[in-house]
Amino acid sequence: MSDARSSRIEGLHKMTPAERLQAVSRQAGLGNSAIDALATAAEGQIELADRLVENAISTMAIPVGIATNMVVDGREVLVPMATEESSVIAAVCNSAKRCRSTGGFVTSTSGPVMAAQIQLLGASDPMNVRLKVYERIDEIRTICDETDPLLVKFGGGFRDIDVRVIDTDEGPMTIVHIIVDTRDAMGANAVNSMAEALAPKLSEWTGARSLLRILTNLADRRVVRARAVWPVSEIGGEEVRDDMLSAYHFADADPYRAATHNKGIMNGVSAVVLATGNDTRAIEAGAHAYAARDGWYRSMSRWETDGDGNLVGILEMPMAVGLIGGATKIHPTAQANLEILGVKTADALARIIVSVGLAQNFGAMRALATTGIQKGHMALHAQNVALMVGAVGVEIDLVASELKALGKVRQDLAEEILARIRAGK
Ligand code: MEV
Repeated sequence: MSDARSSRIEGLHKMTPAERLQAVSRQAGLGNSAIDALATAAEGQIELADRLVENAISTMAIPVGIATNMVVDGREVLVPMATEESSVIAAVCNSAKRCRSTGGFVTSTSGPVMAAQIQLLGASDPMNVRLKVYERIDEIRTICDETDPLLVKFGGGFRDIDVRVIDTDEGPMTIVHIIVDTRDAMGANAVNSMAEALAPKLSEWTGARSLLRILTNLADRRVVRARAVWPVSEIGGEEVRDDMLSAYHFADADPYRAATHNKGIMNGVSAVVLATGNDTRAIEAGAHAYAARDGWYRSMSRWETDGDGNLVGILEMPMAVGLIGGATKIHPTAQANLEILGVKTADALARIIVSVGLAQNFGAMRALATTGIQKGHMALHAQNVALMVGAVGVEIDLVASELKALGKVRQDLAEEILARIRAGK
């Protein structure tokens, strides 16, 4: 039988969220429980959602948990993490505790510097175009800074240009990077506006056609570095330490493993990025591109031993987060989470995020090099599976603990256990 649904809903964007929900429910043939779920989730949140995105009908709650034990640059910090994945927050708490005796995490940054690219094409002399752009640096500075006087007032603004000629399938192109200090903003709006204002002038000066004008998420001038030392006694001995190093060497040498190893790092990073209303996709894109900067995809982190045989972890990655603009400024939960963090600058936030990524990586490597990942996952995962099969109230713990006792967290077994509980057997 063919599905007679249509994806056309006339004027959806003009409706109120409640009207949209009705229209979508009709068109998608939703049952009452699905409609109720969406309507309930919308309560108290939908006005903001409607401001943030188009065609909003509901919202989706992500758990926010607190990572304890973090010490970053000598400051004790409670870290809110927004994630749906079990074990992620527990891993940070545990890893951070194990490096407290050596002072926790020490960080450094290259400053909040972003870049936008302007693509110049169609010229037979791209090298000449490149130099013509460099000759206009003073005018470029004026155009960029006039685009965002507020940023200049706060000490940011245009810093430099970098002009490259790249080879492409349709021949060489001249690519202009405008480099901008965006202070406490993530900076996308600032640099995109500057790039758009500048592009016609670049065409006029060089004779080349300007096409794309957009920031680069490979924010390699906005890099944060975090390091921490884990004493051998906190790891579980020299054998565990050496196995963790072997786990790291595996990730660094093999992209298949690196993807998963780095995903673990991003479990921590993205959870704090999301909790503070920042752009998780921008951070993910920058992080993975940076991990491939040597021409092949490798581990984002580095691990080695110090002179005393302790394990030293290092994480260096672009971290384009802001405190002003976007959801960060208007989402009350993001604002409250920033208050928990107690940060006053985007720079301070970025340092914490990278430290969390390093803690997460330590936790994952240690688990993988010892008991494996499933043991730690078991308790929370068992509860998720219990929920999945429809357990409610006390049933959830009953199903979860039976699954754990069996050592097999499987949906079919959870269904059987729930049926037995309900039959009073
Ligand atoms: C799971 O979300 C993350 C890990 O797979 C990371 C890793 O393998 O290093 C455990």
